[in-house]
Amino acid sequence: MNYELLVNKTNFLDKDYVPNNLVDSLSKYKDNILLEEKALESFRRMQMDAKVSGYFIDIMSGYRSYDYQLGLYNNLIKEKGFNYALRVIAKPGCSEHQTGLAIDFCVYKDNKCYIEYELENLSETNWVNNNAHKYGFILRYPKDKEQITGYNYEPWHLRYVGDLAIYLYNNDLTLEEYYERK
Ligand code: DAL
Ligand code: ZN
Repeated sequence: MNYELLVNKTNFLDKDYVPNNLVDSLSKYKDNILLEEKALESFRRMQMDAKVSGYFIDIMSGYRSYDYQLGLYNNLIKEKGFNYALRVIAKPGCSEHQTGLAIDFCVYKDNKCYIEYELENLSETNWVNNNAHKYGFILRYPKDKEQITGYNYEPWHLRYVGDLAIYLYNNDLTLEEYYERK
């Protein structure tokens, strides 16, 4: 598996692409969320360390097939229109979720599960932002890089890139910027 794989609006995956090392994440959020094996193992380590700090995080979305993404994409366009969808959801084939390396995390706190924009400004989210790189993850769509990534800020979307995460974090680089400089 190439953990540094670039998937975005101009670098897309084949309709039939399915990573061969998907495993059940056993997420408590929802059944049958699959993830690439190593990405899951790393997330579990991060989750355990977060717990030591009193923070409870889990996985609310992982691997999504081409067809599943197509459904999400079409529904959002119907609901909110094309211009909105363009900024927040990837077209089928263009989503990192098809690689099994992307995780949308959620936070359990005060008997509530926080997802998506609800994660903004939580201390748990801050902890993840400051620590995810140690476990091989980057925050893939940061606030100040919307023009570069092509997507609005997503405080929940992590991408497993392996050892590269430390370098990207220390140099404040998105994957797009990394490949431009390479
Ligand atoms: N929300 C991200 C961009 C996706 O759909 O993959
Ligand atoms: Zn996501």
